[in-house]
Amino acid sequence: MWRSHLARSLHQHRNQPEARFMHLATVDAELRPRNRTVVFRGFLEDSDRFQDCLKIVTDRRSKKFMQIIHNPYAEASWYFTKTRSQFRIFGKLVVIDQECLDAELQNLRQQSWQALSDPARIQFAWAHPRELRSPENFDMPQPDSIIPLVDFCLLLLEPTEIDRLELRGNPQNRWLYQRDEKGNWQEQEVNP
Ligand SMILES: Cc1cc2nc3c(=O)[nH]c(=O)nc-3n(C[C@H](O)[C@H](O)[C@H](O)COP(=O)(O)O)c2cc1C
Repeated sequence: MWRSHLARSLHQHRNQPEARFMHLATVDAELRPRNRTVVFRGFLEDSDRFQDCLKIVTDRRSKKFMQIIHNPYAEASWYFTKTRSQFRIFGKLVVIDQECLDAELQNLRQQSWQALSDPARIQFAWAHPRELRSPENFDMPQPDSIIPLVDFCLLLLEPTEIDRLELRGNPQNRWLYQRDEKGNWQEQEVNP
């Protein structure tokens, strides 16, 4: 399954923090593509409701937040240099913000906040993104490490289609994976 291949790539890059950076594309209200780098924060483990979900954290004030509210479809693209493999992970994003009333999800949001480093947490206290910069906007105390700040948001990317391309080999190798209604993955080896 694709997850074992992704796990292998992550393991081979375990000493390279930058291997956890992936590109996340969304669509804006005018149907234009938008893309940015985000950090992969691990898989959601032990959840029957949300399977194979990738965790991402973001700020509710970011542009992507409203884009996802309008249109939850997204694709992450991720390349691993050592294994020379690309993963394109398509699915829907589940937004878990301060307003989320689901206790299990709110608990996950808190855990993700607690797992952040202090420098990562303070970014959520910074002045509003995209406004004109002023030095006093960044002089604030370190936020609480237990209770998330209001703008902290957890995203779950729940994949339904994976495209895995391995550059090694001539011709290269490519597999498509699709998740059916029951949550089972089908794999097909295809031409690159
Ligand atoms: C290496 C790197 C990692 C980043 N990680 C995140 C992240 O985990 N979450 C996030 O919201 N933005 C992250 N950013 C910032 C985003 O790329 C982007 O600038 C920001 O989220 C605003 O995007 P938006 O206006 O499309 O919402 C990261 C940027 C870089 C360069």
